Amino acid sequence: MQVDLLIHSASQVCVVPAHDGPQRGSRLGDLGIIEDGAIAVKDGKIVAVGKTAVLQQKFTADHTINANGRCVTPGFVDPHTHIPWYGDRANEFEMRLGGASYMEIMAAGGGIMSTVRNTRQASLDELVADNLPRLERMLRWGTTSAETKTGYGLEKAAELKQLDAMVELNRQQPVELTYTFLPAHAVPAEWNGRTDDYVQYVITDLLPAGADWMEKHNVTLFCDVFCEAGVFDVAQTRAILTRAAELGFRLKVHADEFEGLGGTRLAVELGAVSADHLVKTPDEDIAALGQGDTIAVGLPGTPFGLAEDEYTPAKAILAAGGALALASDCNPGTTWNESMQMVIALGCRYMGLTQAQALAAATINAAYAIGRGDEVGSLEAGKQADILILDTADYRQLGYRYGTNLVQTVVKSGSLVVG
Ligand code: NIG
Ligand code: FE
Repeated sequence: MQVDLLIHSASQVCVVPAHDGPQRGSRLGDLGIIEDGAIAVKDGKIVAVGKTAVLQQKFTADHTINANGRCVTPGFVDPHTHIPWYGDRANEFEMRLGGASYMEIMAAGGGIMSTVRNTRQASLDELVADNLPRLERMLRWGTTSAETKTGYGLEKAAELKQLDAMVELNRQQPVELTYTFLPAHAVPAEWNGRTDDYVQYVITDLLPAGADWMEKHNVTLFCDVFCEAGVFDVAQTRAILTRAAELGFRLKVHADEFEGLGGTRLAVELGAVSADHLVKTPDEDIAALGQGDTIAVGLPGTPFGLAEDEYTPAKAILAAGGALALASDCNPGTTWNESMQMVIALGCRYMGLTQAQALAAATINAAYAIGRGDEVGSLEAGKQADILILDTADYRQLGYRYGTNLVQTVVKSGSLVVG
């Protein structure tokens, strides 16, 4: 059979198979390694994966890549970023180094609101131009699919501008984007002290505007809420997400970042695709993750970026039978990190994951966390050909090493995009 591309002679092809869904609990970390492996690609999809000798017999290819004893993995999926935003908050980082806390800065009108002011002022073109290089860097570090969010508009025109920017960014570069609507990311300054009124405005104005946008663009959006003490409580989160589900959004929740309010339990109850952050997650909520289909997304870059000591309790989540994914949370406030390799390194050190568990959490489980587990995240026949060739023979160098980019070659949907 003639194929478009044959990648061969890999020391290891890490297939990272789906388990008829994400890799759950103690089964996380199944890499399905094929030594001296090869992958055949046609029309942007994987048609076969197996031993080099076998695939070289079966297929002739228009293009071949000799991996030459290097390790091959699925492209990383980053299922939680706050791209696109405008501007930076280096000044607030300096304030935090001086002792101010993230929530104190936010309560004083900085934090998310500061990025909201910048993002509201930016034109669509400026927003696209500011974010394009971020995605280009993510790609070079091996991210081939990512989630992006609104949440720096917090009023109709600016939230829709962020959505429009995502479409433009998706069109202009190879990292494939999944879109999330997050109008309840903070209570904007003009609604200060009137959180319930803002929640009503989200429900009656912003969610329907997002739903119209979805219909016009023929895509399903996720809807997310920052469920946190001093931001939106569980009842407000429930009200917003319930209405969002009625309007056809799929659901996500920012939960337990600073306090465990019950946002994770709520996510499971509402059938959310993911619950993200999960640092102060109560035992009851961890147990709920083991019973439901909601993916727990750990964002170890965030406590690291905030120089905090507590991380997502991965071992407890896995012991409960939960499905765990990793993401960057890339944003200008808590963790401006574009590298999933760095996230893997942090997940290994501070969440107690093995390199194999972290790799599966950053690929197949991350794909499920954005509802794309059937398309991306593993090197199985039928999946999109999103493939990394690492500059090392052993996947265990991922997580072990950091700060050096181990990605040598990136193939996106069958096309060579890096290397
Ligand atoms: O996930 N927690 C809320 N949102 C972001 C931070 C966003 C910002 O500070 O701009 C987070 O950490
Ligand atoms: Fe976040």
